[in-house]
Amino acid sequence: MNSTTPPHGEPIPTTRRTRWQEAGQSGNYGKRFADLISAGEDVDGEARLADTLLPRGARVLDAGAGMGRVAAALLRRGHDVVAIEPDPALVRQARETYPGLAIEERDILDLGPDDGPFDLVVCVGNVIVFLAEDTERRALGAMRDVLGENGRILVGFHLQDPPPHARTYPAAEFEADLAAAGLRVDLRAGTYQLHPANDAYGVWVLSRAQA
Ligand SMILES: C[S@@+](CC[C@H](N)C(=O)[O-])C[C@H]1O[C@@H](n2cnc3c(N)ncnc32)[C@H](O)[C@@H]1O
Repeated sequence: MNSTTPPHGEPIPTTRRTRWQEAGQSGNYGKRFADLISAGEDVDGEARLADTLLPRGARVLDAGAGMGRVAAALLRRGHDVVAIEPDPALVRQARETYPGLAIEERDILDLGPDDGPFDLVVCVGNVIVFLAEDTERRALGAMRDVLGENGRILVGFHLQDPPPHARTYPAAEFEADLAAAGLRVDLRAGTYQLHPANDAYGVWVLSRAQA
Protein backbone atom coordinates (compact mmCIF):
# COMPACT_ATOMS: atom_id res chain seq x y z
CA MET A 1 0.00 0.00 0.00
CA ASN A 2 1.39 3.42 -0.95
CA SER A 3 1.67 6.06 1.75
CA THR A 4 3.00 9.52 2.50
CA THR A 5 4.68 10.37 5.79
CA PRO A 6 3.73 13.63 7.51
CA PRO A 7 6.43 15.57 9.40
CA HIS A 8 5.03 14.05 12.61
CA GLY A 9 2.75 11.12 13.30
CA GLU A 10 2.07 7.82 11.56
CA PRO A 11 2.32 7.39 7.75
CA ILE A 12 -0.84 8.24 5.81
CA PRO A 13 -1.83 5.41 3.45
CA THR A 14 -3.30 6.23 0.04
CA THR A 15 -7.11 6.28 0.01
CA ARG A 16 -9.11 3.67 -1.89
CA ARG A 17 -10.30 6.36 -4.28
CA THR A 18 -6.75 7.52 -5.12
CA ARG A 19 -5.52 3.95 -5.62
CA TRP A 20 -8.40 3.35 -8.01
CA GLN A 21 -7.36 6.43 -10.01
CA GLU A 22 -3.70 5.42 -9.93
CA ALA A 23 -4.76 2.10 -11.45
CA GLY A 24 -5.96 4.07 -14.48
CA GLN A 25 -9.64 4.19 -13.55
CA SER A 26 -11.37 7.51 -13.34
CA GLY A 27 -14.21 8.34 -11.02
CA ASN A 28 -17.04 10.50 -12.33
CA TYR A 29 -17.86 12.17 -9.01
CA GLY A 30 -16.37 15.58 -9.88
CA LYS A 31 -17.97 15.75 -13.34
CA ARG A 32 -21.32 14.45 -12.09
CA PHE A 33 -21.63 17.24 -9.52
CA ALA A 34 -20.37 19.89 -11.96
CA ASP A 35 -23.13 18.78 -14.36
CA LEU A 36 -25.80 18.75 -11.65
CA ILE A 37 -24.82 22.25 -10.52
CA SER A 38 -24.83 23.55 -14.14
CA ALA A 39 -28.30 22.08 -14.56
CA GLY A 40 -29.49 23.94 -11.44
CA GLU A 41 -30.14 20.72 -9.49
CA ASP A 42 -30.30 20.67 -5.69
CA VAL A 43 -26.97 19.44 -4.28
CA ASP A 44 -27.40 20.99 -0.81
CA GLY A 45 -29.35 18.24 1.02
CA GLU A 46 -26.51 17.24 3.34
CA ALA A 47 -25.71 20.88 4.09
CA ARG A 48 -29.31 21.63 5.06
CA LEU A 49 -29.23 18.90 7.71
CA ALA A 50 -25.79 20.05 8.87
CA ASP A 51 -27.11 23.62 9.20
CA THR A 52 -29.97 22.53 11.46
CA LEU A 53 -27.42 20.97 13.85
CA LEU A 54 -25.56 24.26 14.27
CA PRO A 55 -25.85 27.64 15.99
CA ARG A 56 -25.44 30.62 13.63
CA GLY A 57 -21.87 31.44 12.58
CA ALA A 58 -20.50 28.08 13.71
CA ARG A 59 -17.08 26.57 12.94
CA VAL A 60 -17.32 23.63 10.54
CA LEU A 61 -14.81 21.17 9.07
CA ASP A 62 -15.79 19.42 5.82
CA ALA A 63 -13.62 16.29 5.96
CA GLY A 64 -13.25 14.78 2.49
CA ALA A 65 -14.85 17.78 0.81
CA GLY A 66 -14.48 16.54 -2.77
CA MET A 67 -15.38 19.36 -5.17
CA GLY A 68 -16.60 21.48 -2.25
CA ARG A 69 -20.39 21.52 -2.72
CA VAL A 70 -21.30 20.85 0.96
CA ALA A 71 -18.66 23.22 2.35
CA ALA A 72 -19.74 25.98 -0.06
CA ALA A 73 -23.42 25.54 0.90
CA LEU A 74 -22.50 25.90 4.60
CA LEU A 75 -20.36 28.96 3.84
CA ARG A 76 -23.39 30.54 2.10
CA ARG A 77 -25.38 29.90 5.30
CA GLY A 78 -22.91 32.05 7.26
CA HIS A 79 -20.68 29.43 8.88
CA ASP A 80 -16.90 29.57 9.21
CA VAL A 81 -15.92 26.58 7.06
CA VAL A 82 -12.63 24.79 6.49
CA ALA A 83 -12.58 22.05 3.85
CA ILE A 84 -9.94 19.34 3.45
CA GLU A 85 -9.57 16.98 0.51
CA PRO A 86 -6.53 14.85 -0.49
CA ASP A 87 -7.24 14.64 -4.24
CA PRO A 88 -5.46 17.58 -5.96
CA ALA A 89 -7.78 17.52 -8.98
CA LEU A 90 -10.85 17.88 -6.75
CA VAL A 91 -9.15 20.65 -4.75
CA ARG A 92 -8.54 22.50 -8.04
CA GLN A 93 -12.16 21.96 -9.09
CA ALA A 94 -13.39 23.26 -5.70
CA ARG A 95 -11.23 26.39 -5.95
CA GLU A 96 -12.45 27.11 -9.49
CA THR A 97 -16.11 26.45 -8.64
CA TYR A 98 -16.14 28.23 -5.26
CA PRO A 99 -13.37 30.89 -5.22
CA GLY A 100 -14.27 32.02 -1.66
CA LEU A 101 -13.94 28.55 -0.13
CA ALA A 102 -10.96 27.75 2.13
CA ILE A 103 -9.92 24.26 1.00
CA GLU A 104 -6.66 22.50 1.81
CA GLU A 105 -5.13 19.49 0.07
CA ARG A 106 -5.06 17.32 3.12
CA ASP A 107 -6.08 13.93 4.52
CA ILE A 108 -8.29 13.35 7.58
CA LEU A 109 -5.44 11.26 9.03
CA ASP A 110 -3.23 14.36 9.02
CA LEU A 111 -5.57 16.23 11.42
CA GLY A 112 -4.37 16.94 14.95
CA PRO A 113 -6.16 18.41 17.97
CA ASP A 114 -4.65 21.83 17.19
CA ASP A 115 -6.76 21.98 14.01
CA GLY A 116 -9.92 22.28 16.13
CA PRO A 117 -12.12 23.05 17.85
CA PHE A 118 -15.06 22.60 15.47
CA ASP A 119 -18.78 22.69 16.24
CA LEU A 120 -19.39 20.16 13.49
CA VAL A 121 -17.32 17.85 11.32
CA VAL A 122 -19.17 16.95 8.13
CA CYS A 123 -18.02 13.65 6.60
CA VAL A 124 -20.68 12.82 4.02
CA GLY A 125 -21.00 11.46 0.51
CA ASN A 126 -19.23 8.12 1.00
CA VAL A 127 -15.94 9.50 2.37
CA ILE A 128 -15.99 6.78 5.04
CA VAL A 129 -16.09 3.94 2.51
CA PHE A 130 -13.21 5.46 0.49
CA LEU A 131 -10.80 5.62 3.45
CA ALA A 132 -7.62 3.55 3.09
CA GLU A 133 -7.90 -0.01 4.42
CA ASP A 134 -7.91 -0.36 8.20
CA THR A 135 -7.80 3.39 8.83
CA GLU A 136 -11.46 3.77 9.83
CA ARG A 137 -10.86 3.91 13.59
CA ARG A 138 -7.89 6.21 13.15
CA ALA A 139 -9.92 8.57 10.94
CA LEU A 140 -12.87 8.55 13.35
CA GLY A 141 -10.46 9.29 16.21
CA ALA A 142 -8.86 12.16 14.29
CA MET A 143 -12.30 13.71 13.73
CA ARG A 144 -13.23 13.19 17.40
CA ASP A 145 -10.04 15.00 18.46
CA VAL A 146 -10.95 18.22 16.62
CA LEU A 147 -14.44 18.49 18.16
CA GLY A 148 -15.23 21.36 20.49
CA GLU A 149 -16.93 20.71 23.81
CA ASN A 150 -20.40 20.13 22.32
CA GLY A 151 -19.13 19.32 18.87
CA ARG A 152 -20.69 16.68 16.65
CA ILE A 153 -19.89 14.71 13.53
CA LEU A 154 -22.36 14.20 10.66
CA VAL A 155 -21.53 11.06 8.67
CA GLY A 156 -23.35 9.51 5.71
CA PHE A 157 -22.54 6.67 3.32
CA HIS A 158 -24.05 3.89 1.23
CA LEU A 159 -24.51 0.67 3.19
CA GLN A 160 -25.17 -1.35 0.03
CA ASP A 161 -23.85 -1.28 -3.55
CA PRO A 162 -20.81 0.96 -2.97
CA PRO A 163 -18.84 2.08 -6.04
CA PRO A 164 -16.39 -0.66 -7.16
CA HIS A 165 -13.42 1.11 -5.56
CA ALA A 166 -15.16 1.61 -2.20
CA ARG A 167 -15.69 -0.91 0.57
CA THR A 168 -18.93 -2.31 1.96
CA TYR A 169 -19.19 -1.12 5.55
CA PRO A 170 -22.03 -2.74 7.51
CA ALA A 171 -23.74 -0.45 10.02
CA ALA A 172 -22.92 -2.74 12.97
CA GLU A 173 -19.21 -2.73 12.08
CA PHE A 174 -19.21 1.06 11.68
CA GLU A 175 -20.89 1.47 15.08
CA ALA A 176 -18.32 -0.84 16.71
CA ASP A 177 -15.51 1.20 15.13
CA LEU A 178 -16.93 4.54 16.22
CA ALA A 179 -17.35 3.27 19.80
CA ALA A 180 -13.72 2.07 19.75
CA ALA A 181 -12.73 5.55 18.58
CA GLY A 182 -14.40 7.18 21.60
CA LEU A 183 -17.59 8.31 19.90
CA ARG A 184 -21.27 7.64 20.56
CA VAL A 185 -24.35 7.63 18.35
CA ASP A 186 -26.74 10.52 19.04
CA LEU A 187 -28.93 9.75 16.02
CA ARG A 188 -29.14 7.29 13.15
CA ALA A 189 -31.38 7.87 10.13
CA GLY A 190 -31.72 6.58 6.59
CA THR A 191 -31.60 9.88 4.68
CA TYR A 192 -30.56 13.50 5.15
CA GLN A 193 -34.29 14.29 5.52
CA LEU A 194 -34.25 11.96 8.55
CA HIS A 195 -36.34 9.11 7.18
CA PRO A 196 -36.08 5.96 9.34
CA ALA A 197 -32.85 3.99 9.42
CA ASN A 198 -32.67 1.40 6.63
CA ASP A 199 -30.22 -1.04 5.04
CA ALA A 200 -29.43 1.07 1.99
CA TYR A 201 -27.98 4.32 3.35
CA GLY A 202 -26.75 5.38 6.78
CA VAL A 203 -26.76 8.88 8.27
CA TRP A 204 -25.35 9.31 11.76
CA VAL A 205 -24.93 12.21 14.16
CA LEU A 206 -22.06 11.40 16.53
CA SER A 207 -20.53 13.05 19.54
CA ARG A 208 -17.70 12.34 21.91
CA ALA A 209 -18.43 9.46 24.29
CA GLN A 210 -18.35 10.44 27.96
CA ALA A 211 -14.99 9.67 29.62
C1 LIG B 1 -17.58 10.66 -3.33
S1 LIG B 1 -16.45 11.85 -2.76
C2 LIG B 1 -17.54 12.88 -1.78
C3 LIG B 1 -17.01 14.26 -1.57
C4 LIG B 1 -17.89 15.21 -0.78
N1 LIG B 1 -17.90 14.88 0.64
C5 LIG B 1 -19.29 15.29 -1.29
O1 LIG B 1 -20.19 14.75 -0.63
O2 LIG B 1 -19.51 15.89 -2.35
C6 LIG B 1 -15.50 11.00 -1.48
C7 LIG B 1 -14.28 11.79 -1.08
O3 LIG B 1 -13.65 11.22 0.06
C8 LIG B 1 -12.30 11.61 -0.03
N2 LIG B 1 -11.48 10.85 0.93
C9 LIG B 1 -11.26 9.51 0.97
N3 LIG B 1 -10.41 9.21 1.97
C10 LIG B 1 -10.10 10.39 2.58
C11 LIG B 1 -9.26 10.74 3.67
N4 LIG B 1 -8.55 9.82 4.32
N5 LIG B 1 -9.17 12.04 4.03
C12 LIG B 1 -9.89 12.98 3.38
N6 LIG B 1 -10.70 12.70 2.32
C13 LIG B 1 -10.80 11.42 1.93
C14 LIG B 1 -11.97 11.31 -1.49
O4 LIG B 1 -10.77 11.90 -1.91
C15 LIG B 1 -13.23 11.86 -2.18
O5 LIG B 1 -13.09 13.17 -2.58
